[in-house]
Amino acid sequence: MTGITAPSIDMRGRSALITGAGAGIGRGIAEAFGALGARIVGAEIDPARAGATQAALREAGVEAEIHVCDVRDGTAVRALIAALDARGEGIDTLVNNVGDSIGEFMHPFDRAPEELWDALYAINLRHVFTVSQAALPLLRRRAPGATIVNVSSIEAFRAIPMCPVYSAFKHALTGFTKSLALVLGPEGIRVNTIAPETTETEQVKPSQYVKPELQEHVARWTPLGRFGEPRDMAGCAVFLASELSAWVTGTTVNADGGALAAGGFYRTPSGHWTNTPIVIGDGFGFS
Ligand SMILES: NC(=O)c1ccc[n+]([C@@H]2O[C@H](COP(=O)([O-])OP(=O)(O)OC[C@H]3O[C@@H](n4cnc5c(N)ncnc54)[C@H](O)[C@@H]3O)[C@@H](O)[C@H]2O)c1
Repeated sequence: MTGITAPSIDMRGRSALITGAGAGIGRGIAEAFGALGARIVGAEIDPARAGATQAALREAGVEAEIHVCDVRDGTAVRALIAALDARGEGIDTLVNNVGDSIGEFMHPFDRAPEELWDALYAINLRHVFTVSQAALPLLRRRAPGATIVNVSSIEAFRAIPMCPVYSAFKHALTGFTKSLALVLGPEGIRVNTIAPETTETEQVKPSQYVKPELQEHVARWTPLGRFGEPRDMAGCAVFLASELSAWVTGTTVNADGGALAAGGFYRTPSGHWTNTPIVIGDGFGFS
């Protein structure tokens, strides 16, 4: 075929820096980008996960280096990026993926220690500033066309009753994304966010949380009838990192199986829709 073209998702010759690349959504994104030809640099706190992911990517033919690095440690982050800089490398896409509710649901708000706020801030928001700022000179080397993809949560757009602090920092990420997109847009660096609904990872395991007797209901809880997989988020990341989204910045892709649109509506066993729950158990069984 000649004379017509489509935007490309080919990532050969491109590099991605992915935080938390050793498991879950971060690893899913690393695998997808690697499969499309990208060189992968990971920052992962867990040495075993870093080693396993690096080995799996290399075995698959991906050029990959997964560094052991705690992204909450600004000195470590800057040292990692300085090493890339010293080799003259650029970063086409930075994926700020690290985040965790770190068991906030186990601490009822009236008894939650003040330190919980600091810990949730450090793991969900502060490093997004640190890593983005440190990576900027390397992103500039690949601009125009470089991108930042932040991994937020659908809970940045709806309430989460047991995790008000985690929710606060995920909401903050939306504002950071929008405003940084304006700062960096004129340089040709796009900034966007992915907001996942419940996704099967090391951190979140719906396959184990939902009691066997409630499994039959899972297909009716979201319009698309299942929980998310890292691969679903990886697809959104490919979109946001590639030419497909060349004119998209300062916004969010909700990767949620339609949950936000449903806004509390779900299907009954007879196939009708309701927003008045039929209470037959305690869902994830946290109580
Ligand atoms: N899984 C879900 O249901 C879900 C839903 C909404 C949003 N999210 C968001 O998606 C992102 C990824 O979540 P996930 O479920 O894949 O988590 P995960 O815990 O399964 O994977 C995160 C990875 O990051 C690593 N990590 C943790 N702290 C780190 C640090 N300080 N420095 C470097 N690496 C670190 C972990 O070792 C792990 O390998 C998070 O921002 C999370 O808030 C997840």
